[in-house]
Amino acid sequence: MRCQMEALIAELNRLKQEGVTHVAVSDDALEHLRAVVALRSGGQRALVEDRATKSGRVSLPENHIRTEDAAKTLAEIFTAANANARNAPEPVASPSKGAAGDSAPGKIPLPSPIVLPVGTKQHRWEALRDRVLNCPECNAHVQPGKKVVFGIGNLDADIFFCGEAPGAEEEIKGEPFVGPAGEVLTKIIKAMGLTREDVYIGNIMNWRPEMPTAHGNRPPTPEETAFCLPYLRAQIEVVNPKVVVALGATAAKGLLGAEQFSTLGRARGQVHTFENRPLVVTYHPSYLLRSQPLRTRRMVWEDMLQVMELVGLPISEKQRGFFL
Ligand code: URA
Repeated sequence: MRCQMEALIAELNRLKQEGVTHVAVSDDALEHLRAVVALRSGGQRALVEDRATKSGRVSLPENHIRTEDAAKTLAEIFTAANANARNAPEPVASPSKGAAGDSAPGKIPLPSPIVLPVGTKQHRWEALRDRVLNCPECNAHVQPGKKVVFGIGNLDADIFFCGEAPGAEEEIKGEPFVGPAGEVLTKIIKAMGLTREDVYIGNIMNWRPEMPTAHGNRPPTPEETAFCLPYLRAQIEVVNPKVVVALGATAAKGLLGAEQFSTLGRARGQVHTFENRPLVVTYHPSYLLRSQPLRTRRMVWEDMLQVMELVGLPISEKQRGFFL
């Protein structure tokens, strides 16, 4: 049911993005949607506000509703249902459910294909961000008061940094790399002679993978990564950078395929290809937070020198000899 509902919402959003303004629904379904909407809004809001003849603008057959209304209503119902499921007391000895309830790992639906609208980069990016921020699955994994995290930065960036998943600070702010790992990344970007505004920063995951406790992070499961990956791919497609930098093993495995390498040490130090563009793998900034030997810091910097060369940035003598 959950998968079907998500597939339906995704399809309605896709149709909406393609410019389909109205869809036909059966009388029964329309009645059902009307009843739910009336119930949830105290009967104040009509599901079909501009049902043709009323507004005098379009004339539609009786059984058509606005695509946007249908998608929004279904998403609302779905999000509410998920919230209820999460707030419901955990059934005793339910082996198939973890502490995260309905959104526990292993219950992630298959990813939906993404069709970007036509238009400017800004328009395409905004449509994508809108879709991600309203993604029912992503929202189902976010605790009250926390946010789904979408990428940020320069839409004309040459360099696209891709991390793993939001952490505590990121899900509060709704922005990638704003915590301690973000400070390291900002330092790296600065050492390259750039600012955060010059690059694009995204993550494989759009939500912070749930933990049974309020603290700590865990790497996303392959199912979680697979679900969010189309959102990342679409961001790369919109930004169209000269090079993608995979920060850490999760990003590298997500983008290149887990079977491509055994350790991050083996994956770095070479230029990979991701959808016809160069991809450089390096250690995750949070790895550098855990007092690494100078050798590891230098390796990350050498990866960045490679990135600078790939995008044609000037490299000074000081930068060549730099250690992070
Ligand atoms: N780690 C990541 O991989 N991404 C973030 O946004 C923050 C920490």
